[in-house]
Amino acid sequence: MAAEQIARHLRTQANWCQRLGSPLYAYLLERAAADAESGGPICHILRPHAHTADPNALALRFMGAVHRLVLTGRAPDLARHYPSAGGSVGNMDAAWTDFYATVARECDAICPILERHVQTNEIGRSASLLGGFLSAAESGLPLRLLEVGSSAGLNLLWDLFRYEWNGAAFGPADSPVRFVDIFPNAAPSGVPAVTIAERRGCDVNPIDPASEEGRLTLLCYVWPDQAQRFARLRGALDVAKTTRASIDRAEACEWLSERLATPTPGVATVVFHSIVLQYLGERAARLREIIEEAGQRATARAPLFWLRLEPERQGNESIFSVRMTTWPNGQDRRLAISSPHGPPVDWEG
Ligand SMILES: C[S@@+](CC[C@H](N)C(=O)[O-])C[C@H]1O[C@@H](n2cnc3c(N)ncnc32)[C@H](O)[C@@H]1O
Repeated sequence: MAAEQIARHLRTQANWCQRLGSPLYAYLLERAAADAESGGPICHILRPHAHTADPNALALRFMGAVHRLVLTGRAPDLARHYPSAGGSVGNMDAAWTDFYATVARECDAICPILERHVQTNEIGRSASLLGGFLSAAESGLPLRLLEVGSSAGLNLLWDLFRYEWNGAAFGPADSPVRFVDIFPNAAPSGVPAVTIAERRGCDVNPIDPASEEGRLTLLCYVWPDQAQRFARLRGALDVAKTTRASIDRAEACEWLSERLATPTPGVATVVFHSIVLQYLGERAARLREIIEEAGQRATARAPLFWLRLEPERQGNESIFSVRMTTWPNGQDRRLAISSPHGPPVDWEG
């Protein structure tokens, strides 16, 4: 991959970070792009790894590798600029100087980490999906949760997080994960009692949230100046110490067709996913078929809900919408528009 291509990838990610609220990464990536363009050390580090996986994730793999060094105490100078490690964002030039020095010094440690895939588990998406879960709970049946592309399965623990909006609330008041003002405009109309019958998910590469390696993998890909995302993830990892969802290492379509082969009476089955379809490629259409076929077998005693947060085209724009299809009647509704990382959630209901 040519230097200009590497610089382009870094710059594209810089723009995304700017738009999605990480000024620190936007600045560091822009400076890294300039360094790569001039054939500097960052170009030399990234070039051999550019082919190993999705080149678009190259920038995130690079930033995650450096963040991992910060989180493990190997880059104390840079840690001063990373709120995730107790530092604070101040002088961006100084942050770049320490970033650059860390990369130059730790090149041998960074290179092997660049081979890994970026993997995240975004807790804010529980807040995006909340209204759909509550709507399924209005059936009065215990919920059988089936998540495809679960990563570490932290969003399967959504009912153990605290959500507050317009004088209403759901979830344990002492949860280490707390969302406030999640519905700034309209909000779901009721807060039914929720019982969970089963929490189960699948992922081609599940992460163990109880292992140090799993925790570090999840934490290092969160942008370090997004303190709220970081705090939520740490909180959810704490919740996972006491309640575990069972995550199977499996491909989404194969796993789901087994789970949905026959209706399960007495529970409301909720199939859900967030930011997964783009990874399934052509299999995304098969996943839809599997769910729709199962929908035909659903009954009032064994209803099926398909809840998802995925990108959708609206005119020329790409938005992140929360949709739910409900069987036996097959009704499909857009419930909300949300950011890809969760709240605020623009509830449509
Ligand atoms: C962007 S992450 C989203 C993870 C999680 N849903 C969330 O919102 O935080 C996409 C996840 O899908 C998983 N994945 C990709 N292809 C898959 C497949 N064919 N079957 C199951 N999981 C898959 C990846 O390993 C990754 O954990």
